Amino acid sequence: MSLTAEAFRSHFPIFQDKAHLCSCSEGALSDRVMVAMSEFMTSWRVHGAPWHAWMDEVDAARTLFADLIHAAPEDVAVVSCASEAAYHVAATLDYAERPVILTSEFEFPSVAHVWLGQQPRGARVEFVPAGDTGMTADDVAQVMGEGTGLVSVPLVSYRNGMRPPVREIAKLAHSRGARVFVDAYQGAGVMPVDVRDLDCDYLASGTLKYLLGAPGIAFLYVRPGLDLAHEPPLTGWFARQEPFAFDPHLLDYAPGARRFQTGTPAIPAAFAAAAGLRLIREIDPQESLRHVLALGDSLQEAFLAAGIALHSPADRSLRGPQVAVLAEDAEDLAAFLAGRGVLVAPRGRAIRISLHYYNDLTDVGRVLEGVLDYRRGHRL
Ligand SMILES: Cc1ncc(COP(=O)(O)O)c(C=O)c1O
Repeated sequence: MSLTAEAFRSHFPIFQDKAHLCSCSEGALSDRVMVAMSEFMTSWRVHGAPWHAWMDEVDAARTLFADLIHAAPEDVAVVSCASEAAYHVAATLDYAERPVILTSEFEFPSVAHVWLGQQPRGARVEFVPAGDTGMTADDVAQVMGEGTGLVSVPLVSYRNGMRPPVREIAKLAHSRGARVFVDAYQGAGVMPVDVRDLDCDYLASGTLKYLLGAPGIAFLYVRPGLDLAHEPPLTGWFARQEPFAFDPHLLDYAPGARRFQTGTPAIPAAFAAAAGLRLIREIDPQESLRHVLALGDSLQEAFLAAGIALHSPADRSLRGPQVAVLAEDAEDLAAFLAGRGVLVAPRGRAIRISLHYYNDLTDVGRVLEGVLDYRRGHRL
């Protein structure tokens, strides 16, 4: 039986005094993650160097993430951040025949920066010209030519919570011989993610946002059997067939996605990630998406009725777990709200109000009231 939203919320002590609406920045800390982090400290204190137990937790996190996205654990690499995951993808592509990497302004900058960083190696980065709030498969079709090797698309945009039609974009990309990279960071944990259904070639996410872990660890899914132009040049002993062979002359890449690993993983972050993922496993992703969309509908209707302009798409089928409100001074508005215990994430000309399965109508009421109060004394 899956947890109800109310039971899920009870695992997050921050709701005793705050309205946490900033999971797009950092997920709320659960009692489970606090226990897991202290278990790590205790194991260190008591056992000194319990590497086997620690690596078991890294593997547990990998398997939990793989289960979440409906992949096999051997098709998931443990990496340190989404940028590193993107780098592994970029560094193993062939830019001779297909130099173009297609991205968009909805991409998180760090990932776009990795694509741009490949230009000296022959890559050409093109941005899909898209509207202010959304991006369609047609937008992608218009710029995708014969030379496109990779199409990079977020599951949900960090900027305004927009959900691009990833499945349609993947179908289009594959019909033209290009691969698809999905940055799932702003959606994994709060909505269903199925790599078989998305039909993507790569998918990356860190665990510190909707997956409820801590900074320091991320995962890269790579479709099994994908041909690589080169083995990953950023490597290390955890990418070897036998990491404990300790042979500095032997560069044998492990089968599957483990070939994309490097050095010692972030063990404390792995403890937090596994605990967060175990908690996420107790909720139904369809139910979670329904819950956040319903809360988003309430927010959107109330803001629009009050004449407040939104940066997130009006169409619910394009909206993810986030409602973004346009504000002239988003930092100032976020600080005003924080003063009342309402935590949102400012970014550019908007505050991002992000919703998880732990949020409820009291949080929605608090942020709404705060924004309306702010507007009495300031321009939005
Ligand atoms: C969509 C998205 N991708 C990636 C990141 C982070 O990238 P990295 O793990 O490289 O810091 C973020 C936010 O921090 C994000 O919102």
